[in-house]
Amino acid sequence: MLDQKTIQIVKATAPVLADKGVQITTCFYKNLFENHPELLNIFNHANQSKGRQQTALANTVYAAATYIDQLEILLPAVKQIAQKHRSLQVKPEHYPIVGKYLLLAIKEVLGDAATEDILEAWGEAYGVIAQVFIDVEKEMYHEVENQKNGWLDYKSFEVVKKETESSVITSFYLKPSDGSKLPPYSAGQYITVRLSIPGETYLVNRQYSLSDASNGDYYRISVKKEAELQQPEGKASNYLHDHVNVGDVIEITAPAGEFTLQTGTNAPVYLISGGVGITPLLSMLKTAAPTQQVTFVHASRNGTVHAFNEEVEKALIEKSNAKAIFVYETPEEEDRKKEKFHHEGYITEEFLKNLNIESNALVYVCGPAPFMKAIIGHLENIGLPADRIHYEFFGPAMDLKQKQAIN
Ligand SMILES: Cc1cc2nc3c(=O)[nH]c(=O)nc-3n(C[C@H](O)[C@H](O)[C@H](O)COP(=O)(O)OP(=O)(O)OC[C@H]3O[C@@H](n4cnc5c(N)ncnc54)[C@H](O)[C@@H]3O)c2cc1C
Ligand code: HEM
Repeated sequence: MLDQKTIQIVKATAPVLADKGVQITTCFYKNLFENHPELLNIFNHANQSKGRQQTALANTVYAAATYIDQLEILLPAVKQIAQKHRSLQVKPEHYPIVGKYLLLAIKEVLGDAATEDILEAWGEAYGVIAQVFIDVEKEMYHEVENQKNGWLDYKSFEVVKKETESSVITSFYLKPSDGSKLPPYSAGQYITVRLSIPGETYLVNRQYSLSDASNGDYYRISVKKEAELQQPEGKASNYLHDHVNVGDVIEITAPAGEFTLQTGTNAPVYLISGGVGITPLLSMLKTAAPTQQVTFVHASRNGTVHAFNEEVEKALIEKSNAKAIFVYETPEEEDRKKEKFHHEGYITEEFLKNLNIESNALVYVCGPAPFMKAIIGHLENIGLPADRIHYEFFGPAMDLKQKQAIN
């Protein structure tokens, strides 16, 4: 437990740290990786370069400091982060290393303002926060290892099928190389894929949502090739598309994540996705009870990049109360001829209003950051309670109200 003086110091300095949060964490990562380059086998270098990870850590440090005497309030957020940590194999022995370099960064950035008292208080506070993570993660490691057919860290999986889903999305069907069976997962969860890419000094880890319903036989991920209009090209997605084929082996950790379809309820469900954000929501659609009311809204640019339209249609046949609305931003002539979409343009506030979403509905949103920002804003504007809206970022979680969310 922290004493009152420590709590007071930490709370009083939290706004200062928040103000300099990005500076502190940027400095922290630089020193951390210089002294512990082996950690580059765990961290996502693209997120570092784009500053997204810095933002995530800065937000968390600020939040943790604000609630330092009532950390239980942060537990839902801690669980979501801990899921990602577990999925990436963050271990208790990593925490003191991170703590050391975080404290050094606070000292470096604050300069003379970082008195002995302040540094001591933050050292203690970090210890308390770290222990909360370590305890939650310990339980998660125990759970995945001890579930039926479970495993603890990375396990080798063979690509048994590779299927093109659209001009940009390809699916990989994965089965354990040792022939073992698979533990079930909740619709919406993801796995971490670890790749050893020729020419790369460090291992590359990325999360991919499981795009099929849990079936005990295979895991399926569906990956968008991050190449178009983006430089540098995405490392993992291009490598998977161009070099990973049937018969190849990749390593993955057991399914993780808190963005999951709530089961055992009759509440209507709305699944709203943009682009490759369709993956967790497709799994949810296929997993929903046959009689559950489900509205599946998917936005894509046009029919060429639209993945899984047939699979969605097929899933709907098995449901008595489900429908899909495909929204194309800029449909092509072919899309009109084949009537491949139901609505042209964007998912606007008016569009969502016309869905007449019930106040007890469960709404799940996944897509690019600007899409999420827009949709969640619309949903709030039409009066849907915040606790009914669930969403997943395909990158470090970001505060939607922050400017960084749209970068
Ligand atoms: C929970 C979760 C679930 C996910 N599910 C899916 C899924 O189902 N399907 C899917 O396709 N993806 C999914 N993702 C995203 C996925 O993990 C990867 O982020 C994505 O495939 C891109 O990885 P990459 O290695 O190809 O690109 P990266 O190499 O990570 O690059 C990503 C972007 O950063 C830019 N970039 C890279 N380096 C720099 C630099 N130095 N400076 C500036 N910009 C840079 C690149 O141009 C690119 O646009 C998910 C992510 C999360 C967190
Ligand atoms: C109390 C200490 C820590 C806090 C508050 C913290 C906070 C966070 C947050 C907020 C995220 C983003 C989560 C998300 O987007 O879903 C994250 C991700 C991550 N954390 Fe931590 N973390 C801590 C300790 C550690 C440690 C000790 C390690 C290992 C060395 C670590 C490694 C990572 C990695 C690799 C990611 C994913 C980054 C990415 O993909 O870009 N973290 N952490």
